[in-house]
Amino acid sequence: MEVGLGFLGTFNTKYYYVVGIGHTERKFWFITPEVGPDATYTFGLIGDLGQTYDSNKTLTHYELNPRKGQAVLFVGDLSYADQYPNHDNGETKPFKPCSHRYHVPYESSGSTSPFCYNYHYMEGETMRVMNEPWFLKYRVDVVFAGHVHAYERSERVSNVAYNIVNGICKPVKDQSAPVYITIGDGGNIEGLATNMTEPQPDYSAYREASFGHATFDIKNRTHAYYSWHRNQDGYAVKADSIWFFNRFYHPVDDSTTAKS
Ligand SMILES: [Fe+2]
Repeated sequence: MEVGLGFLGTFNTKYYYVVGIGHTERKFWFITPEVGPDATYTFGLIGDLGQTYDSNKTLTHYELNPRKGQAVLFVGDLSYADQYPNHDNGETKPFKPCSHRYHVPYESSGSTSPFCYNYHYMEGETMRVMNEPWFLKYRVDVVFAGHVHAYERSERVSNVAYNIVNGICKPVKDQSAPVYITIGDGGNIEGLATNMTEPQPDYSAYREASFGHATFDIKNRTHAYYSWHRNQDGYAVKADSIWFFNRFYHPVDDSTTAKS
């Protein structure tokens, strides 16, 4: 189901909606967020969720996290329908159940299929060349991505100088660049990606192949608190965390490793 929300003019209002017909009806609700530059809002972040024992553990951990948010951003690869032929709905066409349930903006990513964001090493390079200058120009604070089944947080780095022929291919620290967070560790059926570039590059502030989720807590126009939570830890434990300073209103160095 997809509904345009243009009519929801009021914030902090609880809206109810029903999915299903007759005895299968289920009622849900959501609250429209506060608006304005100093509005507070907390997002949960889960990527590459799937439907395994680990997926279930990730969702339980998120539900019981005292920092839990008002909405969850699913960062791609929600279902691994190709790994479950003839799943309990009797559908034989792979992916069909999920593509009917979830809207995936795959066309804007240049992909021809909603389930194939298959980037291997350097395969996302064209996307980087297209998007990175905009991220810097508009002072994007953070970029969340999934697909790689592990967790990694970068420093603020840019690679805009690289044009292939000049050979300047090493990302450099740049306080007007976003932090890139890979959070494809929701619990997919293919397992964790343990094969990483060695040694750990300078731009990588934290990386680990563990299942988990994160929360992004926007406090006001200048500050946001981010934390990553592993499934093997207690519900309130943070494995990685950082205070984000807004690049437009408060562009102060917020790196967590040695300042350059
Ligand atoms: Fe994935």
